[in-house]
Amino acid sequence: MSKLNGKVALVTGAGRGIGRGIALEFAREGASVVIAEIDPEGGQNTLREIEKEGGRAITVTTDVRSREQVNRAVSAAVEAFGTVDILVNNAQIQRQQLSFEETSDDDMDVVLTSGIHATFYFMQACFPLMRAGGGKIINVASAAGLLGHPGWTSYAVAKEGIRALTKVAAREWGVHKINVNAICPAAETPSFRLWRDNNPELAKAMTDEIPLGHLGDPEADIARAVVFLASGDSDFVTGVTMMVDGGQTILH
Ligand SMILES: NC(=O)c1ccc[n+]([C@@H]2O[C@H](COP(=O)([O-])OP(=O)(O)OC[C@H]3O[C@@H](n4cnc5c(N)ncnc54)[C@H](O)[C@@H]3O)[C@@H](O)[C@H]2O)c1
Repeated sequence: MSKLNGKVALVTGAGRGIGRGIALEFAREGASVVIAEIDPEGGQNTLREIEKEGGRAITVTTDVRSREQVNRAVSAAVEAFGTVDILVNNAQIQRQQLSFEETSDDDMDVVLTSGIHATFYFMQACFPLMRAGGGKIINVASAAGLLGHPGWTSYAVAKEGIRALTKVAAREWGVHKINVNAICPAAETPSFRLWRDNNPELAKAMTDEIPLGHLGDPEADIARAVVFLASGDSDFVTGVTMMVDGGQTILH
């Protein structure tokens, strides 16, 4: 039985990587999917993949840093499918391998705006749609924030800010049957591959400490956990951060 039949899901940054994996799995579970992606080509590619498998989706070119564009994406979802039941805040611009003292104001602005502000904008824009009938919000955080990874100042701040938004909203919106949770993934994606190419030793050390022996696959590993958090199976789960990382952070 499809777990998300009749639901409308908006996924940010679904043009590639984890967002694409989530969009594809959601569509396979029967959801109508709204792709909010800054890269029009990536958005179109995911849309085509969903339609090829018989799913329903639209793509809205969106820079999640703009409240106006966020509101436009949510309006497009309402126009196409009537509402938003499930929101996944996945898009994030990263500035990495910069020491604390090298991190610039611009790094902070770009990373916090695409992480914290974007998540905040989308949550506020979707709340009026969810307050009557409930909803599911899944925000994407990171072990880099949880553990304070050296070299990731702006990113770690953004991801911990996203976890704070998750917890506050979980407490305020529980009364409306809106579940708000976060995940910390570890997955083989285009941005991970880029980082691995530039930091082979760090990447090897990181993957070597994964007890399950491999990085996650965006569809088979990460998106399946997100389907759980988006479905009725997780109705009594809110405010948590789920590590979807093959156990990578157990030892920390
Ligand atoms: N890959 C990992 O192992 C890992 C680990 C921890 C956290 N994460 C988090 O998971 C999420 C997805 O990561 P990924 O590895 O798939 O990244 P990715 O860079 O491969 O994909 C990100 C997608 O978001 C889009 N995007 C970027 N900026 C945007 C903006 N301003 N507006 C709209 N779309 C935008 C990109 O075009 C791209 O399609 C991110 O939040 C990332 O921080 C990933």
